[in-house]
Amino acid sequence: VRTLAVMTSGGDSPGMNAAIRAVVRRALDRKLKVYGIYDGYEGLVKGGEEIRQLKWEDVGGILQKGGTFLGTARSERFRTREGRYQAVLQMLERKIEALVVIGGDGSLSGAHVLAQEWPEHIEKIRKDHEEMALKGDIPMLQVIGLPGSIDNDLYGTDMSIGADTALNHIIHAMDDLTSTAASHQRTFVVETMGRHCGYLALAATLAGGASWVLVPEEELELRWHQKMVEAIDKARKIGRPHHMVIVAEGARHPDGLAITSNDIKRILTERLGLDVRVTVLGHVQRGGSPTAFDRILSTRLGVAAVDILVDEPDTLHCHMLGLVKNEVVATPLTTVVEKSRAVGTEIESGNYGRALELRGESFKN
Ligand code: F6P
Repeated sequence: VRTLAVMTSGGDSPGMNAAIRAVVRRALDRKLKVYGIYDGYEGLVKGGEEIRQLKWEDVGGILQKGGTFLGTARSERFRTREGRYQAVLQMLERKIEALVVIGGDGSLSGAHVLAQEWPEHIEKIRKDHEEMALKGDIPMLQVIGLPGSIDNDLYGTDMSIGADTALNHIIHAMDDLTSTAASHQRTFVVETMGRHCGYLALAATLAGGASWVLVPEEELELRWHQKMVEAIDKARKIGRPHHMVIVAEGARHPDGLAITSNDIKRILTERLGLDVRVTVLGHVQRGGSPTAFDRILSTRLGVAAVDILVDEPDTLHCHMLGLVKNEVVATPLTTVVEKSRAVGTEIESGNYGRALELRGESFKN
């Protein structure tokens, strides 16, 4: 590989900048030409100024910054075959042979589709663009995905880029809320992100000391609230007047409807007469400077992405690199996408037990 491109896609997550920096600088170290693609797949389809060559100094001063300086966007055009054809054209014009995509399961599956369709698009470009004079065999596109998601919902890694920072935002908010909760003897319901994954909510409960937690993967009994009410009442009776309940945004009632923070507020107010306030943390969780853990994770994965491409030139890469038991491990993108998506599908169909099993496998892998 002589030329590679790096991009971020889907929801941003703190640490993406650190990963871009690592990819760019390692690539330059290893004598590769490196392009940055702005605004995700939309930029890849558009080309022009959206795909720029990056130098060492272009990624200076971004290690500690949240978000992604390359920007990210949802691209309707890239979802179409014609859009992906345009993307291949842009890459061929710049002789880009490898793509490093930092993002969640949707973004990684986009890269996988692009790699699969690559030969067909090349054939079409040979016919449509004779002026490009494409000679000989064009090698297959090499793809390396890096897990970027605060939800920590990707198979193939113990932690995804941004999850630790998001978790720290949550526990700092919990710590702050605890002082006001204690002063007023109030109960707080705190809603965390996590559409199909309870990691943030569960880890925050352990690290922040909450009284109860609700996650999307849990199969709740019909009268699940009874247990929550009893636990909080018991704690109250032994002298704890203020409480915190954590609910992941994707938690559902047994009938599949979302459990909202206000549902919990109503239950606790009606059943126990508590003074309850709701705090929805929202996108605060996705912002801000990455923690040391996220910076190091991103740097390790970014460096490994380049090394694997250079050191294994005879392997056709279509992998995601993740951290498993503190080692960088490559998992085929097909497996990552299939297994990560499966949990969401099971939750959507109400098969919570199966969702929980799959999540367990994902954390054990
Ligand atoms: O980054 C993942 C996530 O945080 C989900 O938990 C949440 O549902 C979603 O992003 C919201 O993203 P957006 O507001 O960008 O659509």
